[in-house]
Amino acid sequence: MLFEVAGISKRFGGTVAVDGASFAVREAGIVGLIGPNGAGKTTLFDIICGRQRADAGEVRFEGRRVDGLMPHRLARLGFARSFQECRVLAEETCLDNLLFAAQEKRLWRELLGIVVPPRRAREKARALLAMAGLSRFENVLAGDLSFGQRRLVEIVSALVTEPRVLLLDEPASGVNPTLLGTLHDVLAETVPQMGVLLLLIEHNMEFVMSLAGRVVVMHQGAVLADGTPELVQADARVIDAYLG
Ligand SMILES: Nc1ncnc2c1ncn2[C@@H]1O[C@H](COP(=O)(O)OP(=O)(O)OP(=O)(O)O)[C@@H](O)[C@H]1O
Ligand SMILES: [Mg+2]
Repeated sequence: MLFEVAGISKRFGGTVAVDGASFAVREAGIVGLIGPNGAGKTTLFDIICGRQRADAGEVRFEGRRVDGLMPHRLARLGFARSFQECRVLAEETCLDNLLFAAQEKRLWRELLGIVVPPRRAREKARALLAMAGLSRFENVLAGDLSFGQRRLVEIVSALVTEPRVLLLDEPASGVNPTLLGTLHDVLAETVPQMGVLLLLIEHNMEFVMSLAGRVVVMHQGAVLADGTPELVQADARVIDAYLG
């Protein structure tokens, strides 16, 4: 099994945020994670990324337990994420945002004895910016871009590290339709190419259903349904809890 969430629970005081959530992913690709506000999606991401500790359960990557690892150790294993509120280095240019992300990864690789030539990192960064339609903003400060463009910079900064597991928390939120189309195409092209597992939290149903091969539906902290987009969209419990 490539990736497993097994019986994860997390409470904050009296609030049960995640309540025995489980799902397993056999191979790389795009898995949507949907569900109503407060279903526990972001909390589950925080646990997977080492930002929060689970009260119970395990997260496993390639059979190895990874819950409770520090974020930098997870980064070394190939975990990358975006944030619901979008985070970029506002005072750095778009190209530097990607190069810093690649650099961080490279430092780890060098420590591990794998050397990636800097030139290649630069070429890859520029190619990803081009794919995101941001070539003309290479030398523009990320803080001067529109929200949607910053979102794209954040996501291609994660992609430039060639993650094995990428977690995106509502990447479509607040992005205009044109940039949303670009974002869709960037993910549809790069994810299969890189062989990454993308876990995609999203409220934009058109976006997530058109990208994901599989959708996990969370409700009240647990997994309510899990299957192809067609299957979950036709599931009466999902319609009741969320889509209806
Ligand atoms: N740090 C925290 N302290 C206390 N309660 C929290 C904390 N983080 C999340 N919660 C609560 O846990 C529950 C799950 O929240 P979470 O943010 O994981 O939901 P979500 O599925 O991401 O929702 P949304 O779609 O609105 O982003 C909510 O009731 C939320 O208020
Ligand atoms: Mg959330």
